[in-house]
Amino acid sequence: MSVVLIAGSPGKLSRTAALVAHVENSLKSQGIETQVFNVTDFNASELLFADVAAPQIAHYRNAIAEAQAVVLATPVYQASFSGAIKLLLDLVPERGLKEKVILPLANGGSDRHLLILDYALKPVISSLGASSVLGGVYVNSRHVTLDAEKRYRIGAEGLERIDRAVSELLGLIRAAQEQPAKSLASPGYAALIGS
Ligand SMILES: Cc1cc2nc3c(=O)[nH]c(=O)nc-3n(C[C@H](O)[C@H](O)[C@H](O)COP(=O)(O)O)c2cc1C
Repeated sequence: MSVVLIAGSPGKLSRTAALVAHVENSLKSQGIETQVFNVTDFNASELLFADVAAPQIAHYRNAIAEAQAVVLATPVYQASFSGAIKLLLDLVPERGLKEKVILPLANGGSDRHLLILDYALKPVISSLGASSVLGGVYVNSRHVTLDAEKRYRIGAEGLERIDRAVSELLGLIRAAQEQPAKSLASPGYAALIGS
């Protein structure tokens, strides 16, 4: 069982990356194999021009194809997801999230755009064929602050919500492992937008 985690902030010091690191640690502590793809680790030109022959991008696409679940984390930029995460999503083949469980995460400067999970990110996820999309977690910058060593720390409120979502994710991927033939499709989102 493997989970791919995607961090979509172009910032070097990033709250989004801190959220992903926390989720990765939680999953690893439960014995789940993980792979993190941070947009800052990619070659910018290969990413921008969707060079699917480039080894790093091929590796990313293979990891997604083999994963049971994907955690997608983005900062809010101009009331939507980052352009960087869209570049990574555009590399996923048609229906490439089929039969995967998806946990969307977003963080923004305030709560003004907390609905971006629903109006921006989930339609894209759904168009990639995901059948099981968790409600997701939105945190704002108050929940993720710099400590004395200039590392981002997630506050108790953010941690509680993220840990609950991770438990939900674990429950779904374990259920899928036990009953691979049975569809996990949540009637929720996919049904709602008719995909
Ligand atoms: C170009 C840009 C646009 C932003 N637009 C929004 C926005 O529309 N709404 C919001 O809540 N925060 C906005 N922010 C704030 C970021 O979402 C916030 O600082 C977030 O924590 C950045 O995540 P990161 O540290 O992973 O890069 C914006 C930041 C930048 C740099």
